[in-house]
Amino acid sequence: MGINIAIDGPAGAGKSTIAKLIAAKKGYIYVDTGAMYRAMALFLLREGVDPSDTAAIDAKCQEADITIGYEDGAQIVYLNGENVNGCIRTEEVGKMASVSSPNPNVRKKLVELQQKLAADADVVMDGRDIGTCVLPNAQVKVFLTADSHERALRRYKELTGRGEACDLAVIEKDIIERDRQDMTRELSPLKQAEDAVLVDSSHMTVEEVAETVISLCEKKF
Ligand code: DC
Repeated sequence: MGINIAIDGPAGAGKSTIAKLIAAKKGYIYVDTGAMYRAMALFLLREGVDPSDTAAIDAKCQEADITIGYEDGAQIVYLNGENVNGCIRTEEVGKMASVSSPNPNVRKKLVELQQKLAADADVVMDGRDIGTCVLPNAQVKVFLTADSHERALRRYKELTGRGEACDLAVIEKDIIERDRQDMTRELSPLKQAEDAVLVDSSHMTVEEVAETVISLCEKKF
């Protein structure tokens, strides 16, 4: 096993920003597992699968070949050979990912891929179940969170910065609903691993969070 750093937490807590910084600083590979669930959701949407039809998700997910590669250090997600990075960050895909990611067949397929990546390389992996299920032996585990209003505000600034019209109250409502789905699902719910360190980024800068995580790594390696 290489060096494994697991960063879990709810949507909008800043996991990917921090994981990318740590990966760049340490020279490890960054693995964004949410992007894999999003690529699967994109496939299911393209196939016209009804989100409430569990049997259809079971069957169709077997036809999706999801792999990842790297270009200039950035993760590229391939869906049946197609680079889908530009298609997976929409609200529609996010909502489908939230509904399809609890499916056991979807999880089995993607967790196997994630574990294989971590067995072969030094990784910083972020998601919901990395410390609890995917990499239970990770040397550093962080549960990164922030209150829902702060997370909604960050998302609001990101969207308005890109010129997209949006409503802060609607964003916060969606975040709270996404948390509820991720935390109450039967299989691999979002929760802090017993040996994970809780970092609440509500009142911290990106630099402060990164320093906190780096100091946890330095205590280990
Ligand atoms: O982090 P994100 O918003 O890109 O994740 C997309 C969806 O995938 C979200 O609903 C949670 C789910 N997910 C998961 O179930 N397990 C993971 N390890 C990562 C993401």
